[in-house]
Amino acid sequence: MTHQTTVAILGAGSMAEALIGGIAKTNGGKAPHITVLNANNRKRLNQLHAAYGVHAAQSYEEAVKGKDVIVLAIKPHNVQEVADSLVSLLDPQKQLVISVAAGIKLETLESWLPADTAVIRAMPNTSARVLASATTLSIGTYATEWQLAFAKTLFSSIGTVTVVDEQQMDAATGIAGSGPAYIYYVAEAMLNAAIAEGLSPAEARALINQTIGGAAKQLSNSSKSPKDLYKEIMSPNGTTEAAIAHLDHSSAQELFQQAIHQAVKRSAAIGASFERDPIHKHQ
Ligand SMILES: NC(=O)c1ccc[n+]([C@@H]2O[C@H](COP(=O)([O-])OP(=O)(O)OC[C@H]3O[C@@H](n4cnc5c(N)ncnc54)[C@H](OP(=O)(O)O)[C@@H]3O)[C@@H](O)[C@H]2O)c1
Repeated sequence: MTHQTTVAILGAGSMAEALIGGIAKTNGGKAPHITVLNANNRKRLNQLHAAYGVHAAQSYEEAVKGKDVIVLAIKPHNVQEVADSLVSLLDPQKQLVISVAAGIKLETLESWLPADTAVIRAMPNTSARVLASATTLSIGTYATEWQLAFAKTLFSSIGTVTVVDEQQMDAATGIAGSGPAYIYYVAEAMLNAAIAEGLSPAEARALINQTIGGAAKQLSNSSKSPKDLYKEIMSPNGTTEAAIAHLDHSSAQELFQQAIHQAVKRSAAIGASFERDPIHKHQ
């Protein structure tokens, strides 16, 4: 019989639930090999136990001991205190720590954990809740290829996985971490426009949801560039051409690129501030 990889998830919030839900989905709806611990909300742990069959732990020791993988699904400002509690419990020869905390670098995590601990950093996005995250992973100094393969499988249960060098994590955060918000922002503009043009909010929302979902499918299924795809819709002197001409005239593409650059810069600044001031409350 092959050993089923055991996982402890520290933190029981929305990211933890997305991961548990994804893993359970690949396992007949239940995930009894997952142990979960939070700070003090027992009701929440009981809910997760009832929904997914996870084991609710009472202590760090119970959660972490003997587990193959420990996922830190806690807010960045809690990571150092949790790492401190794990130092005497972890076995660096056997256990992998995966952090989903935004902004905290591998080097920082490695410095907070016992020497030689295998660490992987993950950056999922909020579409994890609908099992459609675009997750990026970066591998730490001591993690093995086998451990990376496991992390890929784990995060594949909530969407796609791309492995990047850690230097690219800020870019990935600006594109994919914050990315869903850009699409919602466009959706909001479309919604406001639709209502101003006389559609009911419900009609507008249905049309916009389907339009964005359909365009996303086209982007995924087609080898054509985004430009080719929108050019296909633009007949000379037609409606789409009128809209795109207005956007081009207003330098909307440049504005969007500058906005993404701001997100990337902010991600780098948050990472740097954790090195200087790890306890500082960032989010
Ligand atoms: N949500 C997303 O889509 C998303 C996307 C990318 C990255 N992330 C990252 O994922 C991490 C978790 O985010 P979230 O949205 O899931 O947060 P959340 O919903 O606020 O959940 C945080 C969890 O951490 C627990 N916790 C706090 N201190 C703890 C401690 N000392 N020991 C054990 N558990 C502790 C809390 O327990 P109590 O409730 O008992 O206090 C709570 O269950 C963050 O670092 C965030 O940057 C999230």
